[in-house]
Amino acid sequence: MRTVDRRSDWTVVDEGWGRQAVDFAALSEPGNCREYVAMHQRLNVNDGDRLVDVACGAGLAIELARARGASCAGIDASPRLIAVARDRNPDADVRVGDMYAMPWADESFDVATSFRGIWGTTPDALSEIHRVLAPGGRFGLTVWGHIKVSPGAWALAPFRLAASAKVENQAAMVTLGRPGVGEDLLARFGFIDVERVNIPFAWEFSDPEMYARALASTGPAYEAMQNVGEAAFITAAIEEARAHVRDGLPLRAEINVVGYLAHKPGSITRGTA
Ligand SMILES: C[S@@+](CC[C@H](N)C(=O)[O-])C[C@H]1O[C@@H](n2cnc3c(N)ncnc32)[C@H](O)[C@@H]1O
Repeated sequence: MRTVDRRSDWTVVDEGWGRQAVDFAALSEPGNCREYVAMHQRLNVNDGDRLVDVACGAGLAIELARARGASCAGIDASPRLIAVARDRNPDADVRVGDMYAMPWADESFDVATSFRGIWGTTPDALSEIHRVLAPGGRFGLTVWGHIKVSPGAWALAPFRLAASAKVENQAAMVTLGRPGVGEDLLARFGFIDVERVNIPFAWEFSDPEMYARALASTGPAYEAMQNVGEAAFITAAIEEARAHVRDGLPLRAEINVVGYLAHKPGSITRGTA
């Protein structure tokens, strides 16, 4: 997938994630809303919290955190996604940048979130999150869980049209969802009280064509298109979805997402998470 590790150039991320930023914002990201709402609830995001969302995409999670009264910041490597995030959140401090070198001072935030933005292949971003959190700061991270057993696994299947090296990298990225892996990693980066929770996640689409268009706006879809071409990717995605059409109901893909809740050591200043 088009998430770079710290040895790569983060400025190339926009090529995949930003090319269909409007479609991503309007057709794909809204499907993640259950995940955002559940995590904000778990973290008790509240009035007066200073919150940063890392790899914030088009900023819908920030918009929902602001609705709970938080004062928000966000960072993403894609300028075209950040343009949407700024449009949605004019009073938030939303930056184009690299999650491995964040532009904020130490201990700037009470809460940090990252929704499927940090992976088994990119764990060093956790040290930056630890740095910018105030003592006692709360952290909520989501990652894909056990995709193969998810009822909606079909919805991610077209990503496997990418070249085999990219598909192997996708598999390495999702290791953080395995039992014990995220807990160990967060502890290694200095977080305490690490708790693993189930996070609700379900994409819904009106029809196979709308599903294919939404999926095509994501970074991993771009990697598949580089291998098989855009037309073949769209055709394969529509075919995949046709088998899941239900009379009178939307296409629905429930996917296993794991949440991790943790703290930076210190007394918690706001909220009760
Ligand atoms: C799976 S998407 C998640 C986006 C958003 N959190 C959401 O819930 O839809 C991964 C995001 O990570 C961003 N990204 C990848 N590498 C990055 C880096 N080094 N620094 C900051 N953002 C990065 C991409 O631009 C993309 O928006």
